[in-house]
Amino acid sequence: KFVEQIKNPVVINYNSIPHFPISTVEHHKGKLIYGTIKGKKILAMQGRFHYYEGYSMQQITLPVRVMHVLGIKYLLISNAAGNLNLKWKKGEMMLIDDHINLQPDNPLRGANFEVFGPRFPDMSEPYSKKLNNLLVKIAKEKKVKLNKGVYVAVMGPNLETRAEYRFLNRIGADAVGMSTVPEVLVANHMGLPCCAISVLTDDCDPDNLKPALLSEIVAVASKTEPRLTELYVELIGRV
Ligand code: HPA
Repeated sequence: KFVEQIKNPVVINYNSIPHFPISTVEHHKGKLIYGTIKGKKILAMQGRFHYYEGYSMQQITLPVRVMHVLGIKYLLISNAAGNLNLKWKKGEMMLIDDHINLQPDNPLRGANFEVFGPRFPDMSEPYSKKLNNLLVKIAKEKKVKLNKGVYVAVMGPNLETRAEYRFLNRIGADAVGMSTVPEVLVANHMGLPCCAISVLTDDCDPDNLKPALLSEIVAVASKTEPRLTELYVELIGRV
């Protein structure tokens, strides 16, 4: 519902944009929305693409390249993720401080286009310190709980086994999901500052694992969404 905050929206269906993929996941919509929030120009993707849908990494990240060429200054990302940190609970949010990429492909593989960025992009600050510090400050002011941690990206589409959750936690991840990292890699390649917030939709405790229902994941995401919107609307006002 974040997009409901956009003033004077101009809505463009993905299927009318040349070369844009079309989302195959029903609950992910397919619209690019242009307008303003707090007086700032916004380009929002309602619906994004995942590697598990069968697209190439280049297809998934094409929108980020396009938005960069259109002149965006910041990339704000959100996702739903499994909670691997037992100190936290589902329904809470996690600001992504860093990530581990376990996806089997990379959008930067192949010929490098120097006009976009270097062959070997630096990843010492994948998520903008400036944006993250602002988000922590805003969350404190608004008394919204915002955990900070490491996101691990997997291919999906299956959720993980107990042994996999145990492994992912041991290698240093606090949340697991099937998106975001390809977009962040491409953003970093182009020097585009980005930030990402995970909504922790299900608890991934290997010793006490319950079947994860998509309906529950979507319900938890929807319930948390107003708090995420609040943080991002405020962030947009302040950058
Ligand atoms: N694993 C991977 N992706 C997810 C999960 C999960 O447990 N929950 C929401 N997205």
